[in-house]
Amino acid sequence: MLNEKLHLYIEGLVHERNSLLTEMEQYATAHNIPIMELTGIETMLQLLRIHRSKKILEVGTAIGYSALRMAYGIPETHIVTIERDEERIQLAKEFIGRSGLAQQITLIEGDALDAAEAVSSHAPFDAIFIDAAKGQYKKFFEIYSNNLCDGGMIITDNVLFKGLVAESEIESKRTRNLVKKIDEFNRWLMDHPDFDSVILPVGDGVAVSKKRGERK
Ligand SMILES: C[S@@+](CC[C@H](N)C(=O)[O-])C[C@H]1O[C@@H](n2cnc3c(N)ncnc32)[C@H](O)[C@@H]1O
Repeated sequence: MLNEKLHLYIEGLVHERNSLLTEMEQYATAHNIPIMELTGIETMLQLLRIHRSKKILEVGTAIGYSALRMAYGIPETHIVTIERDEERIQLAKEFIGRSGLAQQITLIEGDALDAAEAVSSHAPFDAIFIDAAKGQYKKFFEIYSNNLCDGGMIITDNVLFKGLVAESEIESKRTRNLVKKIDEFNRWLMDHPDFDSVILPVGDGVAVSKKRGERK
């Protein structure tokens, strides 16, 4: 998003992660598992700290990388995270087990479109992080914003989708359809009457939405 030189400069200033997180980053790269970009995740962690989020719902665990970044980075939080891919669930369990932070993370196994009941037993949440199937963002937002406290924050990743949302000509029909869905989500989100939202051009584009009202 930023000019490449500045982007590398900022990434170069981010502290090294511990050996487990570094191993996870390498695993994700080697096995094509999408995890949140470094500047995106650093931005999210900082927002969660400023917001003093204590209970966070994550939609899209993958191998548990972002859940563990939150658990390490904000020790007073509890993270409830949902994943439907069996292989990734097993990997997430292994990594979370090795981290020694299992008490901070609850993994819900299954499709987030059907997990509302399982999730509601952990509600309300101070913050929600949406990072699963991009074509379903609006549905995830609608289902889980019911579990967000007043004044709560929703962070949605990949809303600029490698800059493609601003492109008028995209060759692949599949990508074009996905970009259209993300663009529709962004417009819907910016006009949502219950949330104030902003899109930050960090990582792959991060939308930050704050629910109106005061947190009790
Ligand atoms: C981008 S990855 C998540 C990355 C993770 N948040 C991180 O940064 O470390 C998206 C994950 O969401 C999962 N996913 C997609 N749609 C889902 C759904 N409807 N329910 C549950 N998981 C879903 C995918 O299997 C994938 O592992």
